Amino acid sequence: MRNNRRNFIKNIGGSMALLAVGNAVSASGITNTSTASTLHSKIKVAANDKIRIGLIGSGIIGHFDTNTALKVPGVELVAVCDLYKGRLEGAKETWGNQIFTTQDYRELLARKDVDAVLICTPDHWHQRIAIDSMRAGKHVYCEKPMVQKIEQGWGVINAQKETGKVFQVGSQMASSVGILEAKRLLAAGAIGELTMVESYCDRSDARGAWNYSIPTDASPETIDFDTFLGTAPKVPFEAKHFFRWRNYGAYGTGAAGDLIVHLLTGIHTVTGAVGPEKIMSIADLKLWKDGRDSFDIINAVMNYKTTEKHAAFHVVTRVNLTDGEGKGPFGIKLIGTEGVIESFGNGLVVKTLKRRAVPGYGGYDSFDSFSNKQKEEFKK
Ligand SMILES: NC(=O)c1ccc[n+]([C@@H]2O[C@H](COP(=O)([O-])OP(=O)(O)OC[C@H]3O[C@@H](n4cnc5c(N)ncnc54)[C@H](O)[C@@H]3O)[C@@H](O)[C@H]2O)c1
Repeated sequence: MRNNRRNFIKNIGGSMALLAVGNAVSASGITNTSTASTLHSKIKVAANDKIRIGLIGSGIIGHFDTNTALKVPGVELVAVCDLYKGRLEGAKETWGNQIFTTQDYRELLARKDVDAVLICTPDHWHQRIAIDSMRAGKHVYCEKPMVQKIEQGWGVINAQKETGKVFQVGSQMASSVGILEAKRLLAAGAIGELTMVESYCDRSDARGAWNYSIPTDASPETIDFDTFLGTAPKVPFEAKHFFRWRNYGAYGTGAAGDLIVHLLTGIHTVTGAVGPEKIMSIADLKLWKDGRDSFDIINAVMNYKTTEKHAAFHVVTRVNLTDGEGKGPFGIKLIGTEGVIESFGNGLVVKTLKRRAVPGYGGYDSFDSFSNKQKEEFKK
């Protein structure tokens, strides 16, 4: 079925957000803001029905993920693994002294009381720990990017098939309320046929450019730096590598794997696409010349071919860690033949365009250059 506004009106469902947007389609150019809310678990949990989790990588996102998981009834944190002793101390301070802590993730995986793990380490450790976790009988929530190098993906896929464990990649736009609402609106024809997507991640400050705080006690005594290196090239202890690993290709995936991954997850969730057919991109290091080998600006154009799920569309995307506008951080604009949906995290704005049935004349047009006689004729 072609996407158009008539189908959209037929398809309007009962949700508040859809009704709010439904008002917009009667007039041209009206903007509607759709309010999104958090998805709450509908699972009923019996008092003795617990899921016990272990956190591997107790850094920035490890804290967000664990605290979110602990909001789900029945979830209990039993163990934390990290290579920096200060984060193990911090974990006990945050989640209680009863937590088992270790610098060796294999000790956490050996515990019978851990049902599932959150893998929140730098990218170059995802594959190894994900495979080991599933083989140790644990279900896995692994932060994006699933793997550091594309060819590592098969190892994880095969381990999942072999063990039958649940494996979820933590790329939250796959389950963001705003993105799921955008998907419903697009499928319902709110903006006609999707022809292109503009998406961005713009950041202005040092932390946005991955220069995170380094604790004053960072040293080979407090950090297991050799294990951190893993399969990466051996280098002497360097706190910047450990705490700002995204700046180095040996550990991270750069702007594309770290940030564009979010935008593409959003676009793929909305459209049902599985990936572009062609990508053209340029990247550079313009501002953060602090010894890093990753880029701080990247622009890419992608072509998505027609599939059963969607008509062909273009994607223009960027990461700009040198941004002087300071608006950041993420945005996705779905541009259709009859309107646009702009999605920012959990909210979205829909604008619709009413095309005239007849072409009309005047404005920037050839009409004004006609003779007066022709103008009169034309108007008839
Ligand atoms: N979904 C999102 O929005 C989102 C946001 C931020 C980060 N992430 C992803 O989460 C991961 C972690 O990012 P972060 O910002 O929390 O990094 P971070 O540096 O703050 O934390 C990583 C932690 O992993 C630990 N670690 C490293 N190697 C380990 C190993 N072999 N065993 C045990 N612990 C180990 C380090 O000690 C560190 O404390 C990255 O893959 C990143 O791409 C996802």
